Amino acid sequence: MSKLWQKTTNVDKLVENFTVGRDRELDNQMAAFDALGSLAHTRMLASIGLLNNDDLALVQRELKVIYNEVQEGDFAIEDDVEDVHSQVELMLTRRIGEAGKKIHSGRSRNDQVLVDLKLFFRHQLQQVVNETDSLFRLLIQLSEEHKDVLLPGYTHLQVAMPSSFGLWFGAYAESLVDDLEMVLAAWKITNKNPLGSAAGYGSSFPLNRTMTTELLGFDSMAHNVVYAQMGRGKTERIIAQALSSIAATLAKMAMDQCLYLSQNFAFVSYPEHLTTGSSIMPHKKNPDVWEIMRGKCNRLQALPNDVAMMTTNLPSGYHRELQLLKELLFPAFTDLMDCLQMANFMLQNITVNKNILDDSKYAYLFSVEEVNKAVLNGTPFRDAYKQIGLDIEQGKFNPEKTVAHTHEGSIGNLQNEQISAAMDKVINSFDFKKVEDAISWLVR
Ligand code: ARG
Repeated sequence: MSKLWQKTTNVDKLVENFTVGRDRELDNQMAAFDALGSLAHTRMLASIGLLNNDDLALVQRELKVIYNEVQEGDFAIEDDVEDVHSQVELMLTRRIGEAGKKIHSGRSRNDQVLVDLKLFFRHQLQQVVNETDSLFRLLIQLSEEHKDVLLPGYTHLQVAMPSSFGLWFGAYAESLVDDLEMVLAAWKITNKNPLGSAAGYGSSFPLNRTMTTELLGFDSMAHNVVYAQMGRGKTERIIAQALSSIAATLAKMAMDQCLYLSQNFAFVSYPEHLTTGSSIMPHKKNPDVWEIMRGKCNRLQALPNDVAMMTTNLPSGYHRELQLLKELLFPAFTDLMDCLQMANFMLQNITVNKNILDDSKYAYLFSVEEVNKAVLNGTPFRDAYKQIGLDIEQGKFNPEKTVAHTHEGSIGNLQNEQISAAMDKVINSFDFKKVEDAISWLVR
């Protein structure tokens, strides 16, 4: 293999394979962002006199061609090329000659991979936000649609008090609002430009980092070059926490779904073609989608720990195992996106059982309702509690199965409007437009 850094010695094949690892496969996902980083870096080089206008024009034209090839799916890292950074530079020099050899002034692959990852993560986070938002909207819609359908509420998995489908769907919607607060924090930390740290200690060239920050649509930069390098691992850990927050919401919802689909509950159902069968039991309609989602999302909750274990106690500066973080984060985004999309798809087809509470075993759900009625009629709470308790013991408890909850966030006052306003506020805090405008200007 010929490498950017090769002088005379050929590295042992075993060492090469071990160190390159899965880079060729994973780096493909960063290819478009590698071209974007170089589009910004070379404009900046020209602005400080390190690239003349002819070379800049050639390099810009060809980088845009490569960017478009990536978009069309016509880009591949060749078998004997180490990584995406080497591949892009190699393609440039092959196609435009000398000018291609000039673009690496004032940067390092440590620098390139940092900026590529930031751009890639920013893009992925945007997809996650959009997908979470559409799941949120569906949950709010279901909550409104079924707000009058009652459902048993449980504590200790024992029948407790009346709940409703309005509350159940709406609860997961509101949970996603808080999850996006975590994603917003991750986005803010991701959206700072590391480019210009070079190998991790800056450069003797008078790099204009403010210029690349603006060109790439970053909100600001990681100022200190040593800190910019420390951002690798740290950014991943914070993103992992954000993703795992959404995953925890989905995992809990998936568990509820599995439970409510069980014949012993039978609170919800799905059309047969969305369930899976058994090879031996002809009657089965299993909730495999929700089970796979529960498993994937539980696994995603280990991600912050995986990242922390891989990077704990690393001293400052670049270290090669940082490369392995890609193996953790890239599939995590894919898994989470799949889960968000499947949750959306399944919920579009959910049927809720409207007569759950007709079953006599749920009568006791209304014990507190009856106590409260007596309190409203002037009986002190403790006496009312005792009287209803005695009625239950003596088999004389015949509640009226209606609820009249009015306070904020209760069955009769879901506050879905307030929850939606909170979601809009979080979503509007992501400056996607600024990013999109910068990128389209760079590749125009
Ligand atoms: N594939 C490497 C990574 O992901 C790129 C940077 C290589 N830098 C180095 N000094 N060997 O970290």
